[in-house]
Amino acid sequence: MAQRPLVLDSDPGLDDAVALHYLLARPEWQLVAYTAVGGNVPVDITFRNARALAAAYGIDRDVPVYRGAGRPISRVAIGSDFHGPTGLGTRILPDSTAPEPGTGAVLELLRLSRVHEGELTVVATGPLTNIAVALILDPGFARRVARLVFMGGAARVPGNVTTVAEFNVWADPDAADIVVASGVPYTMVGLDVTHQAPLTAADVARIEEAGTPHAELSAAFMRGYLDSYLTFTGRDHAFLHDPLAIGVASEDTFATVETGTVVVGTDLGLHRGETVFIPDSAAQSPILPEAVRNRASGKGGVAVGAGTENFTADFVQRLREPLPQTRIRD
Ligand code: BDR
Ligand code: CA
Repeated sequence: MAQRPLVLDSDPGLDDAVALHYLLARPEWQLVAYTAVGGNVPVDITFRNARALAAAYGIDRDVPVYRGAGRPISRVAIGSDFHGPTGLGTRILPDSTAPEPGTGAVLELLRLSRVHEGELTVVATGPLTNIAVALILDPGFARRVARLVFMGGAARVPGNVTTVAEFNVWADPDAADIVVASGVPYTMVGLDVTHQAPLTAADVARIEEAGTPHAELSAAFMRGYLDSYLTFTGRDHAFLHDPLAIGVASEDTFATVETGTVVVGTDLGLHRGETVFIPDSAAQSPILPEAVRNRASGKGGVAVGAGTENFTADFVQRLREPLPQTRIRD
């Protein structure tokens, strides 16, 4: 199968960690860079975690890991206890010994968008800071990228940090607003659809019983993730937020997508991080503010509901399979 180039931009994070595993288990992608951004924990820790995950899943000699933005564009404090003190629950992975690249995430995103012009998929599973800075430095990034799929937002359902806001958008609303207004061809994979991809303890047991080291590692991450869901939300199941972004990038059967415009609440008050979705069918409504009605660029896709295929089943099945040995980049 011909592989397509992909960059994973991530703030690991327990579900970010297993999103990497799921990505590596899909044959259609060639992971050309793994970029870290601050979010669930500060960027020093997400960068360390990303390097350690690359080592643990056997790719740190093949796929370079880059440090990204050290703070959000929005003047907001972020971070969360949800993913535990290390961002990977209570697990302390060995550090990667791979050499660190001499450049950062944003410059590498820009470089790869030129090397793979018109072909590069970017999947973002954390705050959109790195992507927004790339767009500020070089707006041409928007037309060189084939597709940006990001996990974030909540179009027609409540948020998970506040009544209206999902964590990744809430963590850097200005970055999200820059991205959705930029003209980059994006698909927003938010809580409307990730809350329809539950993961239970039985699912985790099925992954673990596969018995490979990678399946056991991912199962351990998911057990910690289930514990957090129970502690913080009282739920007996978790949601596959970040893996689903990879799923939607890979197949169009995992979500129902509508096109339209997203406007992000950047006021940092009650509407901080709100993602207001105006589908194309309502774009000319006279009750919309003029600036929104006439917004020329910034059309995107928004995953508004589950697709025809069960994502959780696919996730469990792929994590049970042994990973391919190597993934050599260009
Ligand atoms: C998002 O927030 C983070 O905690 C998760 O990793 C995911 O990217 C879900 O709202
Ligand atoms: Ca994440």
